[in-house]
Amino acid sequence: MRKPIIYLLVLPILALCVACSSQPDEPYRSAYHHTPISKWMNDPNGMFYQDGVWHLYYQHNPFGTTWGPMHWAHATSTDLLTWEEHPIVLYPDSLGTIFSGSAVIDTDNTAGFGANAIVAIYTQSEICGQNQSIAYSLDGGYSFTPYEGNPVIMGDVPDFRDPKVTRDGDHWLMTLACGQEIRFFSSTNLREWTYLSSFGEGYGNHNGVWECPELIKMGNQWVLLVSINPGGPFGGSATQYFVGDWNGTDFKCIDNPEEQKWLDYGKDNYSTFTFHNAPDNRFVALGWMSNWQYANQLPTIAFRSQNTVARDLSLYQDDAGEYRIASVPSKETQAIRGRETKHLPATAVVDLELDGNRDVLITLSNKRGEKVIMTLDAHRQMFSMDRTASGDCSFSHDFSACTTTPLFIAHETHYITLFIDRCSIEVFGTNGEWTMTNLVFPSEPYDKIEVQGGKMTIYSCKIN
Ligand code: FRU
Repeated sequence: MRKPIIYLLVLPILALCVACSSQPDEPYRSAYHHTPISKWMNDPNGMFYQDGVWHLYYQHNPFGTTWGPMHWAHATSTDLLTWEEHPIVLYPDSLGTIFSGSAVIDTDNTAGFGANAIVAIYTQSEICGQNQSIAYSLDGGYSFTPYEGNPVIMGDVPDFRDPKVTRDGDHWLMTLACGQEIRFFSSTNLREWTYLSSFGEGYGNHNGVWECPELIKMGNQWVLLVSINPGGPFGGSATQYFVGDWNGTDFKCIDNPEEQKWLDYGKDNYSTFTFHNAPDNRFVALGWMSNWQYANQLPTIAFRSQNTVARDLSLYQDDAGEYRIASVPSKETQAIRGRETKHLPATAVVDLELDGNRDVLITLSNKRGEKVIMTLDAHRQMFSMDRTASGDCSFSHDFSACTTTPLFIAHETHYITLFIDRCSIEVFGTNGEWTMTNLVFPSEPYDKIEVQGGKMTIYSCKIN
């Protein structure tokens, strides 16, 4: 008579185990950020949105948890919080391994692969250099066939990669990273490309190789995102950007050439790209939440790396009249906010209301004395995050760091939001005017948050 009860108890546990076996849990497995089920991941690639589904491809080594032969792996989401993994779509072939790139929906069949084909444009890297190839999908992005005429652009410098393609009027526009400059190409059919111009000399930061560029029209301005490695403000990799004008051929930067504008003032937000065809003309972006300085050594087990939460990008003008990018958590991510709570759970969203005229100290800590200290320095108009005592920093001498950002606008009250996951803290300044993304590896979750000089509201996270 008892058996049915036992079955009732055991079956759901078994079902749970089967479900979990596809994504083994471990202490630093992010709960609501995209992670690969197993093995290595770096840059998000080829992201596009279609019929309610967000498609994310990513740099993936299926053979190990460190960088290796690159493939494009694939995941989809309908809520930008939970992701479903699909089979790998692009494998290395005789032309090389598959580096970063983008994808577009070819609604009008400009390439001749079929109306509404998804066309991926990516770098193939081989011993002799880097070239650009394309592949097409006739099943909505779940499988791709490489184009037989590949490569479509041959490299002429050693670093020649990461094509991001967008529509510009009646043609396609490609932004490509070439050493320490960005080159622009145009095409009517995605197969034949014409060089237009280059940008970069004398502008911004040149202490590393330029990678993963994207040109975006935001309002009346154009913004050129350029990742750089090394050369980031706190060491290693980071994403800089330039504001200017695009006249169909050239990018004219309106920033002071010496100016360095960073998309994020933490150490762990790299190779940010936006989704092609996002709804309502939004610029929805994901970044790789890591840094080349130590990405290969992070203390996770079955997998390595995670992406940031989705962020909507826009432009604003700071107190000095400078155009800057604001990044706010995409509205879809707000669904993660669960109940208001008094105690800090392992994964949480925290809203802070801070007096802009006095110094504020925010401390996250656990019973082992590990802590992250954040300060809003009213006098210097800076915000900082110190992770030197945050937990395990032993895997790389580059990990221990204190990152800082200007506040850009002197608000009377700052409304700051923290997104806390199992190994990351993302801080969004008022209206997203600045962001700071940092990984942390506490030996047990932080369970206490103290704010001296402001108010806070803590929400637990709703996680499936
Ligand atoms: C950036 C990057 C890209 C390249 C890819 C290789 O993180 O170096 O420039 O395409 O990673 O995995």
